[in-house]
Amino acid sequence: MSYIEVEENDNKVEDLFYKYSVGARPFLKWVGGKRQLLTQFENLYPSELKQKEIKNYYEPFVGGGAVFYDVAQNYEIKNAFLYDINDELILSYKVIQKDVSKLLEFLYGYDKLYKHFSEIKQQEFYYDIRHKYNLDRSNINYEKYDEKWIPRVAQTIFLNKTCFNGLFRFNSKGGFNSPQGNYKNPNIVDESNLLNVSKLLEIATIKKADFREVKRDVKDNSFLYFDPPYRPISKSASFTAYNKSGFSEFEQFQLAELFIGLDKFGHKLMLSNSDPKNIDPNDNFFDNIYSNFKISRVDAKRSINSDGTKRNLIKEIVVTNY
Ligand SMILES: C[S@@+](CC[C@H](N)C(=O)[O-])C[C@H]1O[C@@H](n2cnc3c(N)ncnc32)[C@H](O)[C@@H]1O
Repeated sequence: MSYIEVEENDNKVEDLFYKYSVGARPFLKWVGGKRQLLTQFENLYPSELKQKEIKNYYEPFVGGGAVFYDVAQNYEIKNAFLYDINDELILSYKVIQKDVSKLLEFLYGYDKLYKHFSEIKQQEFYYDIRHKYNLDRSNINYEKYDEKWIPRVAQTIFLNKTCFNGLFRFNSKGGFNSPQGNYKNPNIVDESNLLNVSKLLEIATIKKADFREVKRDVKDNSFLYFDPPYRPISKSASFTAYNKSGFSEFEQFQLAELFIGLDKFGHKLMLSNSDPKNIDPNDNFFDNIYSNFKISRVDAKRSINSDGTKRNLIKEIVVTNY
């Protein structure tokens, strides 16, 4: 990943760009994260982004946000619109944007306690926090900013960094149910990254929203990147369990409809998904629903079995309208 150097006689936009080139990266481990694909994505971004003509960036399935960090730090966008349906994730972005210092205090508290405990005590502590986290869900108003959000986000980050395999998983009732992971020294407080993320989020509008809402909000001269939950590539590999709402083929069709609709307004659009041809060379699902667009294939390493332990080299598809 390259970072553009700023010359001495830069104008205001470049000053702004310099201000945001801080080396931020995802602060949560997130299923389907795109960090490993960024080098390949660089060749697939629209030329208008590289020529600094695009100022607005939208990511309606932001997750861990790897592509947002890449785009915001390497190109001169002025506004980012980050949406996701997961309310704990959105709470985390909002707290980091607004109250990162207080969040750091809570995180240092968890870090100190956890690392001081014996292995048995760590286990008790993890399941105790998980239990409280799930009970507290009903006491949180996810709509309106509240001081209560800050310790909750500290718990989200703590659980994310200490849970099994970074599998941040919710059951059908919205409860977090991942078991404890086996980490000797989990990186619970990554202070410099959280500060960098907070700075970068100054340009962001963050919203809990269904992807369909982006149509209403999108401004002219925009680049939109869609990274929906994967269409499962085998019966056992259910990558769609991100959220209690699930994401079925019906939503994949609706997303294709949205893509076709936005294309007519001249926005630059990019979308990724798993390539069904990894399993069945005759499965033309995406080739059919995105038949009017360019489809590229990139290499990815993903777990494709149900227990998530085997990582295979597979293809992912990238659809673009340019
Ligand atoms: C593949 S992940 C995105 C990964 C992200 N690009 C990254 O690098 O970490 C898909 C995301 O879509 C979100 N999601 C699922 N259904 C959604 C919906 N209907 N509208 C908006 N977001 C949704 C999930 O919460 C999840 O964060």
